[in-house]
Amino acid sequence: MNDSTIAPGTPLPIVEHPRLTVIGTGYLGATHAICMAILGFDVLGVDVDAAKIAALAAGKVPFFEPGLPEKLREALDSGRLRFGTDFREAAEWGDVHFVCVGTPQSKDSDAADLTYVELAFTELASHITGRALIVGKSTVPIGTAARLTTIVQTASPAGTEVELAWNPEFLREGYAVQDTLHPDRLVFGVQSEWAERQLSAAFRPMLDAKTPLIVTDLATAELVKVAANSFLATKISYINAMAEVCEATGADVNLLASALAYDSRIGSRFLKPGLGFGGGCLPKDIRAFAHRAEELGVGQAVAFLREVDGINRRRRTRTVDLVRELAGGSLTGIRVAALGAAFKPNSDDIRDAPALDVASMLHAEGAIVTVYDPEANDNARRSFPELRYADSLAEVVLGADVIVLLTEWQEFREADPDDLSTLVNQRKVVDGRHALDADDFRAKGWEYRALGRPADPRTVELISDVRDDVLLSA
Ligand code: UDX
Repeated sequence: MNDSTIAPGTPLPIVEHPRLTVIGTGYLGATHAICMAILGFDVLGVDVDAAKIAALAAGKVPFFEPGLPEKLREALDSGRLRFGTDFREAAEWGDVHFVCVGTPQSKDSDAADLTYVELAFTELASHITGRALIVGKSTVPIGTAARLTTIVQTASPAGTEVELAWNPEFLREGYAVQDTLHPDRLVFGVQSEWAERQLSAAFRPMLDAKTPLIVTDLATAELVKVAANSFLATKISYINAMAEVCEATGADVNLLASALAYDSRIGSRFLKPGLGFGGGCLPKDIRAFAHRAEELGVGQAVAFLREVDGINRRRRTRTVDLVRELAGGSLTGIRVAALGAAFKPNSDDIRDAPALDVASMLHAEGAIVTVYDPEANDNARRSFPELRYADSLAEVVLGADVIVLLTEWQEFREADPDDLSTLVNQRKVVDGRHALDADDFRAKGWEYRALGRPADPRTVELISDVRDDVLLSA
């Protein structure tokens, strides 16, 4: 619509049932496109990767995500969802464009690599000829949206008719459908009342369902995402730092975490000790945040994130230490069964996966490492061809000197120590995720070790005896 037809003071019109495009159909984009079509919108998903687009158009989700294949089928059957590779078509067809491309860590620094984001915004904008809203969903350094606004309005023939907004996404892998359809909150970073109203129309079903909404400026919207991920990473590293203290004192971090969690101000979520965080978000987001804060001159304010990262990395080397200890001091020629490769269960994502980091370090020290993951074997094999792979739990543990549990898949949690005993060479297990029943394993003759827990539960009694002695003699 031409603005010259609108009387002064009249609010700019919005499209009540906007046509949505989703640029970038990776994890975030594919899920967003599918779920928005499920909610009743007409959606066009666009990606430069023709193979990915062909797979999605054929009803195949190119990654493992519980429930998503069924939703893709439902959305395609509804006729509301289609996929393509043409940015021009997206620009001409869509009213609201969501940009969901990745922002990986740069190869040579901790900064986020914004190449894909800039390309996507510029390419799309260059074909937009009328009023439109481009909404960034990618996780970006603070200040990116403001900078992109200038880039986009310069690239588009429609100039300032193209507005930019930011709408961070908080979905968790493994729960992507649930988190997208029923988010805890929506955050709209906008620059005008028109953008807020247009974005509200694009999220009408969620707003009607009373999803809490925060409307804010661009910088705050960008910051919400990195601040949330930093908080979660900090909470995990906090309990893992306590695990280090436990290791030096004979205390038990599992019991400590349980006791802390009863305080409702602390809570139990993201307080699970173990091998720590990995994945495509938390590690790179805290590094990019610290890097950006340094650029902004407030590096000191988030300097603790470097420590959070350091604690997290130490959990990996310490897990290797535990396996070496159980193996008797040297890993050379030791057969290790590595249970898990994905960065967490219910995912086939191996980006910055603690499991594969540990498996590689064990391999580098001379251990014969065989990996089994229910879903991530293929991805792991491509990135770590030097490791061996098994196709089942029974196969991976066969003849093992030490089992190390690295990703807490339900299949591993439910493994019966007696059944495992019949397959392994030695009954030794390192539980990198505090996922096994330590008492049961020990009762059945296993040497059980876990980060932040005493090697022998009797140690706790011994230490308390010592303390009693000290107290008595005081
Ligand atoms: C995370 C955020 O949770 C999500 O909001 C954001 O949109 C993307 O990043 P995700 O990477 O899918 O989601 O995984 P998450 O469930 O947060 O787990 C991250 C890592 O932390 C995993 O490696 C997990 O094993 C580890 N973790 C989690 C712990 O070590 N302990 C815990 O208590 C919780």
